[in-house]
Amino acid sequence: MSSVFYVTTPIYYANAEPHLGHTYTTVVADMLVRWNRMHGREAWSVSGTDEHGEKMVEAAEKAGTSPQAFTEQISAVFQRTWAELGIGPSAFVRTTNPKHVANVTKLLQKVWDEGWIELREYEGLYCVGCERFLTERDMKDGLCIDHERAPERRRETNYFFLMSRAFGWLRQYIEEHPDFIRPERYRNEALAMLRDESGLGDLSISRPKDRLDWGVELPFDRDHVCYVWFDALISYLTGAGYPDDPAFEARWAVAEHLIAKDILKPHAIFWPCMLHALGIPPYKHLSVHGYWNVDDRKISKSLGNVIRPLAMRDRFGFDAFRYFLLRDMSFGVDSVFTEDALVARINADLANNLGNLVSRTLNMTGRFCDGRVPEPEEPGEAEDEVRAAAETAARAVDEHVEKLEPARALEAIMRLVDATNRYVDQREPWKAAKDESRAGELRTTLFTCCQSLRAIAVLLLPFVPDSATEILSRLGVPELADEARLPDSALGFELPAPGTETRKGAPLFPRIDSSELSEGED
Ligand code: MSP
Repeated sequence: MSSVFYVTTPIYYANAEPHLGHTYTTVVADMLVRWNRMHGREAWSVSGTDEHGEKMVEAAEKAGTSPQAFTEQISAVFQRTWAELGIGPSAFVRTTNPKHVANVTKLLQKVWDEGWIELREYEGLYCVGCERFLTERDMKDGLCIDHERAPERRRETNYFFLMSRAFGWLRQYIEEHPDFIRPERYRNEALAMLRDESGLGDLSISRPKDRLDWGVELPFDRDHVCYVWFDALISYLTGAGYPDDPAFEARWAVAEHLIAKDILKPHAIFWPCMLHALGIPPYKHLSVHGYWNVDDRKISKSLGNVIRPLAMRDRFGFDAFRYFLLRDMSFGVDSVFTEDALVARINADLANNLGNLVSRTLNMTGRFCDGRVPEPEEPGEAEDEVRAAAETAARAVDEHVEKLEPARALEAIMRLVDATNRYVDQREPWKAAKDESRAGELRTTLFTCCQSLRAIAVLLLPFVPDSATEILSRLGVPELADEARLPDSALGFELPAPGTETRKGAPLFPRIDSSELSEGED
């Protein structure tokens, strides 16, 4: 496996502030970065803001300001939000950034020089929300399905990227690389789009300046600006250091794009065709997740029902929120967001299950062993079982993260928490503590709990980094938060070593009383 990892989130439109959907993709990217770093890989991540196009002009007009000032402000909110939540990418690309504009200009020229672009008259139904011409499939009752607004009939002279020339190549590439687009349902969707070429055709990649002048000018015709998607997709190259960063090629060879299903077509069809025309190899994976729905409708800026990540952090703690996102969405399938589901999940998994193990382990180590990890006796069958459960969990986490199944990885960690809690229930150390003749057994039990908790915390580091770091610190091994290597640090029962000082601390995940919550909300 490569020693480099490169992941991207979409470059979010800078026309409204970050919401739950953006946060989910960005959290998954952050989890993957942390997990890959723990495997010793050099991990690089890119996010950014998509700042050109009609959508921005419309939004800026509404806000009574210029597109430049408007996108500047929203982009800063995205950057600040990710930084405050500790999920900031290694590089943040703004499509108005001069280096990115230079890349788009250069690559447009290249595609033009190599004969992939043609001037044509075009008439169709355009949705400003999607920033593209719609096909029958994109509409219901005359409205754009995603934006629930009527598209406009437009007739224009546009430059076309002769994308259809690459369809044969792309079909074959997808067929020969089964995990190029995953999960499989989206691969099948991409293949279906390619089979039904009537819905695709070539791609209009220009807008006449007299209608829209907020974009990258075409280097071969100054009266047109570049279509926003052609511009935005190139940000994945800019973010990886194209063209002059020596790390670019190694990153690009392993590029992993994360998106939701709404933008499958530009990523599964336009982008590989663009790369093909540019003579740049395709990305490695396109990983597509479903939608978070609120009240059974897609959350989006235009529909208005918005969950803000900073507000969620203030109310529940960001780790708890991110745990919920990663645990409750099965990657690739839609999920419904409700506060009740969030509270139920936090209470069941974090407050009761994990929180209970943390507090009972550290409380009893404090009370019965002077706050130090005790010296164990020879492990017996019960201890071997806990250890085997840790090994199973470590293997499962790796397997599931590699297949992009974060929910199943967390499920596996929670099984280890369950197994350890059951072990404590069976050993009843509170009884052993009252019986001098069981002193050895008591030490072995609490030693085993500390070891298992350390394994759990290490496995949780990519998912709930602050809480996992806190557990390691309470166990007296804070250095593991930076040095832990997977799967090793989750295995071998050697740390924390006997004699290590532990600390009880306040409840990590206080139970949330949902009745109080809803009252507070009204
Ligand atoms: N600017 C384009 C992307 C260009 S990438 C070269 C864009 N921006 S967006 O702001 O609309 O972001 C879309 C992405 O945000 C989705 O693909 C997904 O990553 C995330 N989400 C937005 N709403 C979502 C949900 N309701 N649920 C899950 N994720 C969603 O499209």
